[in-house]
Amino acid sequence: MVEIDWKNLVFGYVPTDCNIRCEYKNGEWGELTVHREATINLHISAAVLHYAQEAFEGLKAFRGVDGKVRIFRIEENAKRMQSSCNGIKMPKLPIDKFTEAVIRAVELNKDYIPPYETGASLYIRPVIFGTTPLVGVRPAKDYEFIVFVTPVGPYFKGGFQTTPFMLSRQYDRAAPLGTGNIKVGGNYAAGLSASEKAHELGYSSAFYLDSKEKKYIDECSAANFFAIKGNTYITPKSDSVLPSITNVSLSKIAELLGMKVEKRHILVDELSEFDEAGACGTAAVISPIERIDDIDTGKAYIFSKDGKPGEKSTVLYNYLRGIQYGEQPDTFGWNTFVEV
Ligand code: PLP
Ligand code: COI
Repeated sequence: MVEIDWKNLVFGYVPTDCNIRCEYKNGEWGELTVHREATINLHISAAVLHYAQEAFEGLKAFRGVDGKVRIFRIEENAKRMQSSCNGIKMPKLPIDKFTEAVIRAVELNKDYIPPYETGASLYIRPVIFGTTPLVGVRPAKDYEFIVFVTPVGPYFKGGFQTTPFMLSRQYDRAAPLGTGNIKVGGNYAAGLSASEKAHELGYSSAFYLDSKEKKYIDECSAANFFAIKGNTYITPKSDSVLPSITNVSLSKIAELLGMKVEKRHILVDELSEFDEAGACGTAAVISPIERIDDIDTGKAYIFSKDGKPGEKSTVLYNYLRGIQYGEQPDTFGWNTFVEV
């Protein structure tokens, strides 16, 4: 095992001991197998390479304050992967196959779960793709499911620190009746131009507007949007955003803490009325937003005047992390323990 600088981990790929795989052939899923190599042998005409028949998930395992290892909301990711499979005509992976593969990948790579004190975690990346060689556009017959893991630090610069974001008016990520609400690779390719532009201009990422009316906030390429107004947690209702498991969890925590939760359209102009805002997701956790610049109109929406994360975002962040690291009672039953 290579030495890992746990405290300075970024959100990147670190080689681990093994990955778990499962093939779909002749209309059924096979047994899980363990592989040491990190590469695959793929036909040059495989469906995934040409027509992006691929879906993935992202979840995390945490080493808690008590030394125990917890995986956060594994069943929700399993269900979302089924909905992604359904959306692009791939066979549904059974929930128990998903959970077993994820748990084995964590168990067999236990040495890569970052120590509690580092605040880092083990990112788990399940992926399914079509392997059948084809040239005409149609669904593959054969598929492969792989779960690999990698220790990670924060997704956005600095972790729980405010950073600037921009609005993307020149690029859309997804259409209302398209694939924005499932986790398929094509959505991320569609978002690369806007993200790269945002990075070049010094922003963490770009928030898309609804692609039909260009009036409402959708999400950014790797995280949902939420805002705080007084005692209310507000998040977009949209058919083209990914249903974020983190966002739903934060909404539940907000309710538990006596906040009101609203899921509704958010007009761009309304950004000026919010006290706090954040990007949320498994990788992003909560990434507090300093401001959102509408670079095409020159308007700026400021959510932090002193550069610090807002009070409510901080409470929500600490509560969520508290559950994940076993510092807070898991009243919702969100954690799955892994014996390591
Ligand atoms: N939106 C997009 C486009 C994402 O890629 C992600 C990451 O998974 C999220 C939102 C956040 O979802 P979750 O909280 O389930 O990780
Ligand atoms: C996640 O938060 O798990 C994601 O998948 C976001 C991104 C890294 C694509």
